[in-house]
Amino acid sequence: MAARRNLVNANRDMFKPPTFVSNATALNRLQNKLRRFLDLQAGSIWRDLRHELATARGNLLDVGCGAQVYRCLLPPAASYRGIDAADAKGRFGYDVPDTHYFVADEWGVADASCDILLFTEVLEHIADPAAFLARARRCLRPGGRVVMTVPFAARWHYIPEDYWRFTPSGLARLLDGAGFDQVDVRARGNPLTVACYKLMALPLMMIGQSNLLVRGLGGLLLPLVAVVAAIGNISMVWDWGDDCLGYTATARAKL
Ligand SMILES: C[S@@+](CC[C@H](N)C(=O)[O-])C[C@H]1O[C@@H](n2cnc3c(N)ncnc32)[C@H](O)[C@@H]1O
Repeated sequence: MAARRNLVNANRDMFKPPTFVSNATALNRLQNKLRRFLDLQAGSIWRDLRHELATARGNLLDVGCGAQVYRCLLPPAASYRGIDAADAKGRFGYDVPDTHYFVADEWGVADASCDILLFTEVLEHIADPAAFLARARRCLRPGGRVVMTVPFAARWHYIPEDYWRFTPSGLARLLDGAGFDQVDVRARGNPLTVACYKLMALPLMMIGQSNLLVRGLGGLLLPLVAVVAAIGNISMVWDWGDDCLGYTATARAKL
């Protein structure tokens, strides 16, 4: 049997998708739209947040905001503030003006000062998610809401800064323990969506290989990506099964 890698000290992704760009220009917006069609994770998050944020009111804090791609979904009744870890640029490739970059988990946010806390695809990168959620709870006024997304069937990414995958029951326990109630966890996609997502990754992985034959085969398979992406996008109208791309969760800070 071929020797398998000990992954404990891995520090490099095999495949790194381009980071999102902010929605500043029409070209950026077009780029992000195309990305959301081809990247089923990103597309499914966008769809859920478009719905979740449509009725947002008051102060919204986006923690680990990256390129602030969901900021444009906020209605005028909500004000936006984006914060991110100071090493977001070095580790994740994000460096966006109008973001407060903090060090050592000192968010610089007053207790009970926020109406909504948003964090998308952040919790899996946090070494101590329970402490992170407790801090999030303190920033929210009682009755305020948290809106979050986490990946489930996703590659190990930003290696090694990707520590966890969460299940609905795990999220419910964590949120309850941090002082939240009215927990709601919805799956993004289903087993068919996951199959499409994995299938689409294959040609891209093959193209990244050094073996010319594998690369050539990957190139030949590339046109299939658009067809599978279309099927994957359509598949998301059905809610079934116990596998999915990820979860969108909301909860209320206990009164
Ligand atoms: C996969 S990116 C997601 C970015 C953005 N939320 C999005 O959905 O496009 C993960 C983000 O988590 C942030 N992050 C990592 N560690 C963090 C921490 N301890 N506190 C807050 N954010 C953190 C990273 O800087 C990065 O912006």
